Amino acid sequence: MALVTLKEILANTRKEHYAVGGFNFNGYEDAQGIIQGAVSKNSPVILMASMGAVKYIGLHQVAGMVKGMAESVKIPVCLHLDHATDYDLIREAIKCGFTSVMVDASAKDYETNIAESRAIVEFAKDYGCSVEAELGKVGGKEENIVVTDASAAFTDPDDVPRYVEETGIDALAVAIGTVHGFYKSEPKLDFDRLEKIVKITQCPLVLHGGSGVPVEDFKRCVQMGMSKINVGTELKAAYSKTIRKMVGENPESEFDPRKYVGPVKDVCAQIVAGKIDIFGSADKA
Ligand code: G3H
Ligand code: ZN
Repeated sequence: MALVTLKEILANTRKEHYAVGGFNFNGYEDAQGIIQGAVSKNSPVILMASMGAVKYIGLHQVAGMVKGMAESVKIPVCLHLDHATDYDLIREAIKCGFTSVMVDASAKDYETNIAESRAIVEFAKDYGCSVEAELGKVGGKEENIVVTDASAAFTDPDDVPRYVEETGIDALAVAIGTVHGFYKSEPKLDFDRLEKIVKITQCPLVLHGGSGVPVEDFKRCVQMGMSKINVGTELKAAYSKTIRKMVGENPESEFDPRKYVGPVKDVCAQIVAGKIDIFGSADKA
């Protein structure tokens, strides 16, 4: 089916207590694997391209590839531009057919974050594209966005209502203790904070930094009302590990690249299917 917006794909999440996975991809094999995993569970899915992935693959190429993948299956697929700080790129992505973008002005002060996010919402409206934005600062490293422990900041629930109202966003990324990249120690999620945020807004909430979050924490977040959960690093690491393994196992005379990279599809599909079971989105397509 045709690509769907983030607003549509998250519409029933809170009331039906499930979250839709947002999975980062960097090429054809992992993107196809993500779709495959979602199809195997009859689940909606969000394919996320970072600015780095877009620069690597090409904006039109990403849009064309994922549009084609979505149209070949019967589950809802959303194409999302992740953590975008380049507003020209955001506008180009929207024009190109992305059905969701994340404007990441989380490093800016509150008023600037509101103004810049609202400007993107205004632009996106004409194209029927959804917008996610972040309030607070999720720590860790997401491509070239680095947030040190000292500068990471949890979302203040009191800041949420005005932010959601004035920006007009479709989904809100919250900082409640997860970090981007591998965890140095077990993550400690601030569930009291999440509870306050869920109570104070109807806006669908997004958990970033999903790689390495314990299963029970995921489940608790979803039960409390988290609508979208992002997973990137785990897929990237599995992709690289698979290539290393396939190169090691094959003789030098093997020159068909599909032998090396093809298995990435199944590996990613398995990871995605596992997350879908945890997030509760199986059979929600
Ligand atoms: O926006 C992307 C996600 O927050 C991914 O985080 O790489 O730690 O799984 P992760
Ligand atoms: Zn993120």
